[in-house]
Parts: sequence; structure tokens; C-alpha cells
Amino acid sequence: MLPNSRKPIPSSSLVKHNEVYIWAIGLLLLLCTTVEGRQVGGGGGGGGGSWVNVEYRAVNCRKHSAFVTDFGAKGDGKTLNTNAFQSAVDHLSKLAPDGGAQLIVPPGRWLTGSFSLTSHFTLYLHKDAVLLASQSVKDYPVLAPLPSYGKGRDAPAGNNGTIDGQGEWWWEKYKAKELTETRPYLIELMYSNNVQITNLTLRDSPNWNVHPVYCSDLIIHGLTILAPTHSKNTDGIDPDSCSNVWIENNYIVSGDDCIAIKSGWDEYGIKFNMPTQHVIIRHLTCISPTSATIALGSEMSGGIRDVRAEHITAIDTESGVRIKTSPGRGAFVKDIYVRQMTMKTMKYVFWMTGHYGSDPDNHFNPRALPDVENINYRDMVAENVTMAANLEGIKGDAFKGVCVSNVTIGLSKKPKEIQWNCTDVVGVTSRVTPRACGSLRETNGLECPFPEDKLPIESVQLRACLAPALHK
Ligand SMILES: *[C@@H]1O[C@H](CO)[C@@H](O)[C@H](O)[C@H]1NC(C)=O
Ligand SMILES: *[C@@H]1O[C@H](CO)[C@@H](O)[C@H](O)[C@H]1NC(C)=O
Ligand SMILES: *[C@@H]1O[C@H](CO)[C@@H](O)[C@H](O)[C@H]1NC(C)=O
Ligand SMILES: *[C@@H]1O[C@H](CO)[C@@H](O)[C@H](O)[C@H]1NC(C)=O
Ligand SMILES: *[C@@H]1O[C@H](CO)[C@@H](O)[C@H](O)[C@H]1NC(C)=O
Repeated sequence: MLPNSRKPIPSSSLVKHNEVYIWAIGLLLLLCTTVEGRQVGGGGGGGGGSWVNVEYRAVNCRKHSAFVTDFGAKGDGKTLNTNAFQSAVDHLSKLAPDGGAQLIVPPGRWLTGSFSLTSHFTLYLHKDAVLLASQSVKDYPVLAPLPSYGKGRDAPAGNNGTIDGQGEWWWEKYKAKELTETRPYLIELMYSNNVQITNLTLRDSPNWNVHPVYCSDLIIHGLTILAPTHSKNTDGIDPDSCSNVWIENNYIVSGDDCIAIKSGWDEYGIKFNMPTQHVIIRHLTCISPTSATIALGSEMSGGIRDVRAEHITAIDTESGVRIKTSPGRGAFVKDIYVRQMTMKTMKYVFWMTGHYGSDPDNHFNPRALPDVENINYRDMVAENVTMAANLEGIKGDAFKGVCVSNVTIGLSKKPKEIQWNCTDVVGVTSRVTPRACGSLRETNGLECPFPEDKLPIESVQLRACLAPALHK
């Protein structure tokens, strides 16, 4: 998070009337800087020690390197290192105009509370480095609510190092209703551009794992996100009022949606008016028995448009793509394209809900109806499915332009009697098994569209950078 971004943080729709503890880990890579050459192990740190270099890929390499141990951190799993991390970041932030800096976290178990990142900065976790989130509420400052929610709710890279949220403690407190604020998110990015989060393992987040809000140009690649499937609200990746987002090669097992695309809540989100748009999700594997592979909403009051998802695998997951909205949300969910999904053991393949409910307060306008249109699903195979589709639009505000083609759904031993349950949705289908409902008119030879062009974010090149690996 940017130091000047101690601005409101959203509460999720699941935690009302609350504010948030924040556990901020993020790293900013600003594309606008050109780094001419690099000076490995130069600049602030290393203390003259010897090291070998490990290569990693990033939008920009940094001129200066420092080890978190240079700032007094101890990787013993016991020492609280919040001050060491924060003073390292504060110190290295001064190098931003001179090619930026990377902060190296060597192998070890580094206990810390929330700390903020800075611009032109890389937080690099070595393979055997684990950031352990403190289990004390006082290590997480409470922030004000996000403006697009109305109430309380530049990037790490690594060689598959781990950020462990030690969330069990928080899940228990939440269940026992002992918390007055929203639980912390593991990686929170606000008002940040050109952010890369790559090759990390995120484990047991207290709440959502990765939450970029009011951000643009995000690369989120190679994350392994693991949380018990019974843990509450451990969403994988939640782009929220963000543009140009490239999510690729992620493996997510969680207790909530693997990916949830959001953009603010009812009258607050309508007023703030910042959509999530131009998102590509590719090569995602999701396991989430009580939630969606990809959810759109329910907070979508700034609008959601141009989402492209392909090569998606879901196993033992409640639904494939799920659209969630409600009267009062306003805005839109449109131009959604999904293809090449493989699913096994699902309750629903397709799910749309126009009466999700859950409002921040009583001041929402029930006549602010969302437009859901141009929703395209094609080339999918599913097995062991209980119900193909449960699609419920809004009376007088039907979901329009729903297109489904070349989708084969194999049913479980005890399937629902109705396979396609459609209310207030209209659209077209072709080559769909089992046969779709009548309001999705069968049209021979139809192929639902998927954009041919690439998003600009997809042509960003990652270059080879070096991180010093040994510190003696
Ligand atoms: C992430 O790790 C994979 C496998 O080691 C590697 O191929 C890829 O280049 C890495 N990506 C980045 C952005 O470092
Ligand atoms: C990263 O670590 C996780 C477990 O911590 C493992 O399951 C995954 O395969 C690793 N990824 C890579 C690319 O090594
Ligand atoms: C099919 O799904 C059911 C749950 O609906 C599950 O219990 C069963 O193990 C699945 N079968 C296979 C072969 O995956
Ligand atoms: C139908 O979908 C399957 C599964 O993705 C794919 O292998 C096949 O090529 C598709 N058929 C056509 C005609 O596009
Ligand atoms: C079908 O949709 C209607 C209206 O949304 C709902 O009341 C009903 O429970 C659904 N049926 C099934 C089997 O899900």
C-alpha cells in the first residue's frame, strides 16, 4: 500500500458496520521508470557479505538491494519484525528516484504485523522465507471504510516464498463474534498502478487473500493460495474497482470464491462510480466446495465490464461462473466472456442471482437496477454436476444477451429434476447438453463470441532480474 493511502478500506458485505484491520503487503513496480542496467548487491545492504544471485522476472529490476536483516529483523518465528519491515521500506523508499530498491527476505520465519509498501520497490521472498502474520489485533491499524462501500472494508515477488496469515486464530474469533472490526486481508493494495504479485504461496489468510482496490495495471501470476475449505471469506483474488488486470497461472483452494470481481456497494459504489474492467483470467485451478470459481459481484455498483476467462479448471467447487447482484446495486455486469472451462463435481455450472440482498444500510435505492447483459460462455465440459444452471434475473429487468454454446454437462448420480431453471433471463444457446431452458433460444451453428484482440496489459514484458540469495 502506498504510504499516503491510509484511506478507507472496505468491509466485505459479510461484515457490516465495521472497519478493518489491515495487513498490508504489496509491492509497486512502476512501468514509467526505465532502469538502465543494474547493480546487483549494490546500494543499501548486504553489509559486505557474500551471496549468489537468484533470477526472477519482473516488469522492472531494481538498482539497489537490501536485506531485511540489515534493519534488525530476526527470522526466528518469534521476534515481532513489524518495525524492521516498516523501517526498511521507509528507508528504501528514498531510493525511488535512483532506480528503486528491492528488499530481500532470506530463508526463515519472519513474524510481523501490518506494514506498508512503497513505489519503485520490490519485496522479494526467498523460497524458504515465510512471512508469518501476527495473531494480535493491535498489530493491525484500523482504517476508515472505503468510499465505494460506505463502511467498514507495488508488489511482492518471490521464488515461491510464503506469506502465512495464520488465519485460524481470526476465523475462530470471527465465528465466536469476538471481533468488532473486519478481519485483515493478506495483501491489500490501494490506489496503486503497475503492480506485480508473482510466484508466492499465500496460506491461511484471516480474510480475503489479495485485494487490489482502485488500482490499475496489475499482474498477478503464479500464486498458490491455500486455505481450509471451511474457513470463512478466504477469497483468493478480488480485483475491486480496478482496470487492466492480468491473472494467470494461479492455483487456489479456499473457503470462498477463488476469484471475485467487485466494484463497490449500492449507493456508495454508484456515487464513487469506478468499474472493474479489462480483466483476463487464464490457467486458473480452483477448489472451493462452498463457493464460485469466478464470481462477479455481489458488490458491483461501479460496474463490471470486459472480463475474459479461459483455460479454467474447477474441481469440487460449488459453481463455475456466478453473477451476484440485487436491486439497489445499479450499474452493470456486461461483456463477460468465458471459454475452455473444465469442471468436475459441481453443484451448478452456471449460476446467476438477481436477489442477492446484503446492503450496507437502508439508504439504497431499490429502483437502482443493475444491467446484466452480453454474458458469453462456450466450449466447456463438466462432470458429476447436480444442476446445470440456476439463472434468476430481476423482474422487469431481465438479464439479457446470455449466450451459451458447445457446453456438455454430465450429471451426478442424484441430479436435480430441473436442470435449467431460468427466471427473467433471455438469450441464445447452441449445442448444450442437457438442453437449456426455452428463454435461452436454441440457435443452430451459433458460437458465442470471445474477443480476438489482446488486452494491452498482456503485452507487458517481464525481464530477468537478480536477487542476492545468501547473506553471511
Ligand atoms: C514463476 O516461476 C515459474 C516456475 O519457476 C517461472 O517459469 C516463471 O518465470 C516465474 N515467473 C515470474 C514472474 O517470476
Ligand atoms: C509453491 O509452493 C506450494 C506449496 O507451498 C506448492 O504446492 C507449489 O507447487 C509450489 N509452486 C512452485 C512453482 O514451485
Ligand atoms: C460426485 O459428486 C458427489 C457430490 O455431489 C461426490 O460425493 C462424489 O464423490 C463425486 N463422484 C466422483 C466420481 O467424483
Ligand atoms: C467444444 O468444446 C470442447 C471443450 O472445450 C473443445 O475441445 C471443442 O474443440 C469445442 N468444439 C468446437 C467446435 O469448438
Ligand atoms: C428455480 O428458480 C426459482 C426462482 O428463482 C426458485 O424459487 C426455485 O427454488 C428454483 N428451483 C430450483 C430447483 O433451484
